Amino acid sequence: MTSNSRRERPSSVEPIAGEPWVKLPNGEELKDWVKDDEIAFNQHNRQTEKYKFFIQTFDFLTDNRVRGNYLEFGCHRCRTFRMALTEARRHNADWMKFFAFDSFEGLPDSSGHSVEIWTRGALTTTVDQFMDHVRTHGIYVDKVTPIKGFYSDSLTTQLRSQFLDNEQKIALATIDCDLYESAVPVFDFIEPLLQEGSVLYIDDLFAGYKGSPSKGVAKAFREFRQRSRFRFVRHLDIGWWGRSFIAYIDPARRSRESTSNGRGKHPDDSRGHLFPADRRDRPPDRSAGGRAHGRRAGRAARARGPAVPARRRWQRRELQPRRQ
Ligand SMILES: C[S@@+](CC[C@H](N)C(=O)[O-])C[C@H]1O[C@@H](n2cnc3c(N)ncnc32)[C@H](O)[C@@H]1O
Repeated sequence: MTSNSRRERPSSVEPIAGEPWVKLPNGEELKDWVKDDEIAFNQHNRQTEKYKFFIQTFDFLTDNRVRGNYLEFGCHRCRTFRMALTEARRHNADWMKFFAFDSFEGLPDSSGHSVEIWTRGALTTTVDQFMDHVRTHGIYVDKVTPIKGFYSDSLTTQLRSQFLDNEQKIALATIDCDLYESAVPVFDFIEPLLQEGSVLYIDDLFAGYKGSPSKGVAKAFREFRQRSRFRFVRHLDIGWWGRSFIAYIDPARRSRESTSNGRGKHPDDSRGHLFPADRRDRPPDRSAGGRAHGRRAGRAARARGPAVPARRRWQRRELQPRRQ
C-alpha cells in the first residue's frame, strides 16, 4: 500500500474475533508511515470528532428550541464554520446568522505555551480566502458576516450593543483561538449575549499548555466562570482537546446574589466597561451578610467550629461543585 492510499483511509477502530480484539496496524502496514500520514490520520480523527459535535449540538438546539446565532472566534480554514453552516441548513435554522470573528492575519504575539508553531501570524487565512470557502460551500452565504481584527481591538462595547439592541443572542459559540490572551476578551464579549441553552464549544481546553487548567484557554474559561452570571453544565467531549458547555441560570444562586450587595446586577449596568479588574477572581464580600461582631461573634465562631479562611470557604462552595 502506498503512503497516499493510506491517507485516504478513514480512521476507525475495527473489532476482531480474537486477541487483541481490535485490529491494530502491524509493522508491515506501518513500515512506510511518514509525517504526512501522521498528520492526515490526526486530521481525520480530529475533524470527525468536531463534525460529530456539530451534528449533535444542532439537534440539541433544535430539540430545546434554543434560538440564536452562531458566533465563531478563530475561523482560519473555515472547517468548523462550514460544519456549522451545514448542520444549520440540515436543521432548517433559517433564522440563524453566522459571525466569523478573526484577525484574518493569524495569531497575535503570545508567550508561555508549548506549541512552537504558535507564532505571530501563524494560521493566517485572509478574509477573501475565508469567504471563498463560504461561497464555494454554498450554504447561507448571505447570512455570514466576517468581523476582522484582533479581539483586543475588534470586540468593542459598541459592537456588542449592536447585538444586544437587536436582541441577537447566542445559540452556539465556538471558541477556537488557542491562546489565553485571545480567549479573555472573547469571554467578556459574549457574556451578555448568552441565554439559557447557549452552547459554548471550547476547542483548546487541553491543547497548547500540556493540559494544565492553570494556563491558556482553560484558565481563561475558569476565570470567566467565576465572574459570569451564568453557570455552565458540561455537555460533550470533543476528542482529547475540547469540550462544550451549556449556559444556565441557577435560581438558588440568583436569589443569593440579589440579596447580596447588588451582585446580581451585571457589572456592565453601572460602569463603562464589562468586568473591572478589581472585581475579578475575588471571593464574595461577606461583610454585608449581617455577621455578629465582638463577643457575640466569638461565641458564634466557636459554635461554627474550626475557622476556615473566607477564601477557602468560598472556593469549597463555589468552585468545587462546578468542576466538571
Ligand atoms: C486554530 S485556528 C481556527 C481553526 C478554525 N476553527 C477551523 O476550523 O479552520 C485559530 C484562529 O484564531 C485566530 N486568532 C487567534 N487569536 C486571535 C486574536 N487575538 N484575535 C483575532 N483572531 C485570533 C487566528 O487568526 C486563527 O485563524
